[in-house]
Amino acid sequence: MNTELKQSLNVNSLFLHNVVVLSGFFIPCLLQITSDDRVSVRPGENTTLSCNITDYTEISWYLLTFEEVKLLITAEQGKLDKFFLIRFSVAESYFDIVKSNSSVSLVINGVRDTDLGFYYCGGRNRTHIKFGKPITLSFTGQ
Ligand SMILES: *[C@@H]1O[C@H](CO)[C@@H](O)[C@H](O)[C@H]1NC(C)=O
Ligand SMILES: *[C@@H]1O[C@H](CO)[C@@H](O)[C@H](O)[C@H]1NC(C)=O
Ligand SMILES: *[C@@H]1O[C@H](CO)[C@@H](O)[C@H](O)[C@H]1NC(C)=O
Ligand SMILES: *[C@@H]1O[C@H](CO)[C@@H](O)[C@H](O)[C@H]1NC(C)=O
Repeated sequence: MNTELKQSLNVNSLFLHNVVVLSGFFIPCLLQITSDDRVSVRPGENTTLSCNITDYTEISWYLLTFEEVKLLITAEQGKLDKFFLIRFSVAESYFDIVKSNSSVSLVINGVRDTDLGFYYCGGRNRTHIKFGKPITLSFTGQ
């Protein structure tokens, strides 16, 4: 099996795993969101969303809209080195991550209207899963 295929299978099984976790957890949350944190940008602008979960070996970013929960990107820290291995679940050119404050911020290149919604980061290690604060991304003036 080639590496690319293996990688995409990994992403899929991760995604399925997360959907199972999410359907119980996120959907009720979505209804309760009163928007703690807001980030407003102009269409086409770049933005960086920061994650307040630290010290997890794996950090993922999700986008929630009223239709779906989408896993965007996962960064996994190597066991020996401190480098992050990045797995994209969406088009690579739009999203990136940067390491900051012992966590992983999400970078969105050129925000489109389909990017608007609620963003969550989630940390995971072998025994725990924890979710960060939700961030609402909207266009300025809306
Ligand atoms: C947005 O990010 C991209 C890729 O890093 C960069 O090429 C572009 O100049 C940035 N645009 C703005 C408005 O900062
Ligand atoms: C890092 O943490 C400091 C202090 O809590 C905060 O002011 C800053 O915005 C954070 N930077 C990022 C990129 O999250
Ligand atoms: C996972 O994270 C939790 C909370 O930070 C921590 O208590 C636990 O020891 C961690 N487990 C492993 C296996 O690193
Ligand atoms: C992240 O922010 C949320 C909302 O402000 C807060 O409830 C949570 O305790 C924070 N988590 C950490 C690890 O600071």
